[in-house]
Amino acid sequence: MLDIDTIRAQFPILGREVNGKPLVYLDNGASAQKPRVVLDTIQRAYAQEYSNVHRGLHTLSTISTENYEAVRGTVARFLNAPSEESIVFTSGTTEAMNLISYGWAAPRLEAGDQIVLSVMEHHANIVPWHFLRERQGVELVWVEPDVNGDLDPQAVLDAVTDRTKMIAITHLSNVLGTVVDVKAICSAAREKGIATVVDGSQAAVHMPVDVSEIGCDFYAITGHKLYGPSGSGAVFIRPERMAEMRPFLGGGDMIREVHRDRVTWNDPPMKFEAGTPGIVQTIGLGAALEWMMDLGMDAIAAHERGLRDYARDRLGGLNWLNVQGQSTEKAAIFSFTLEGAAHAHDISTVLDKKGVAVRAGHHCAQPLMEHLGVTATCRASFGVYNTKQEVDVLVDALELCHDLFA
Ligand code: ALA
Repeated sequence: MLDIDTIRAQFPILGREVNGKPLVYLDNGASAQKPRVVLDTIQRAYAQEYSNVHRGLHTLSTISTENYEAVRGTVARFLNAPSEESIVFTSGTTEAMNLISYGWAAPRLEAGDQIVLSVMEHHANIVPWHFLRERQGVELVWVEPDVNGDLDPQAVLDAVTDRTKMIAITHLSNVLGTVVDVKAICSAAREKGIATVVDGSQAAVHMPVDVSEIGCDFYAITGHKLYGPSGSGAVFIRPERMAEMRPFLGGGDMIREVHRDRVTWNDPPMKFEAGTPGIVQTIGLGAALEWMMDLGMDAIAAHERGLRDYARDRLGGLNWLNVQGQSTEKAAIFSFTLEGAAHAHDISTVLDKKGVAVRAGHHCAQPLMEHLGVTATCRASFGVYNTKQEVDVLVDALELCHDLFA
């Protein structure tokens, strides 16, 4: 069992007040706070060890390169990927999805080919496929969750036709908290030769992820949600798929030779990492993932299940609150609207006055908002440092909202 007081003490920001109240940070789905070890790693990387990577023979360049490259192994361990070489560093999931769209899908998909995706996807796992629809006539085939917010893997597989070339699916909805059985989807897709792209931005924060077991072709994670720096991230790419990809961004580091009339590429994964990368961000990501693995992903998941169950009970007692998504095994992410008037932005503003940080809006998931028949929700998304007492503070603040707006 995790000692949450000790964990909280590692996050300096959790000690501050907001609007004269102790901060209750429930916007982890948007971005998580950073533990001391990540802050110290960033500080040391800049203050003591900074240089560019892959470019110099001097001592600092060697240290920086070693620290940076070591993170590939950390990410591979975190995801149980087969090798370090199957990990490409990115600035986050948005870049990963654009890399896959441009590097793998665009040269392969033709007009009339189909990509199956769910309406629960984040815009990062939608817009890069819209590029293919607009530019080369690829069709997007949408699958909807059921009334509880569960996504039946069979519904995804039923949407597959002989024109389906790719399935792009979230592992965990950033709005509903629904966990998707991506293993069932990926293994069936693999038998049909369909590529699978999994958006792991949210799932990797809350539960153990094993890409070898899932059997996907691509799995993207983003550092700033994983208690690491913004501008960091990584994508696992199955080596056979990586061998099929053309480069996305062009520039230094991704080349072997550049001449007036020709250019040759570096070996993968560096073929897909152009220019000076997010050196310190990536080193910070490594520290964050080591920190999470030290806590233990099973222990993190168990703590958050306790929060989920408690929050579900307490929020469920508010009969004027509409909580979206009732999946039994969902993550501790609760999107809601208040019966009657109050816009999500107004609720968020009142909660902020009580020190409670939530996100309000469409959560970069407008097709899901359309499916739910709402324009916006408030979202309380929990992380490893949250407590049941903070759920109580949220509920008290929501009761105040109800008094003000009902
Ligand atoms: N993807 C982030 C969220 O869900 C920004 O809020």
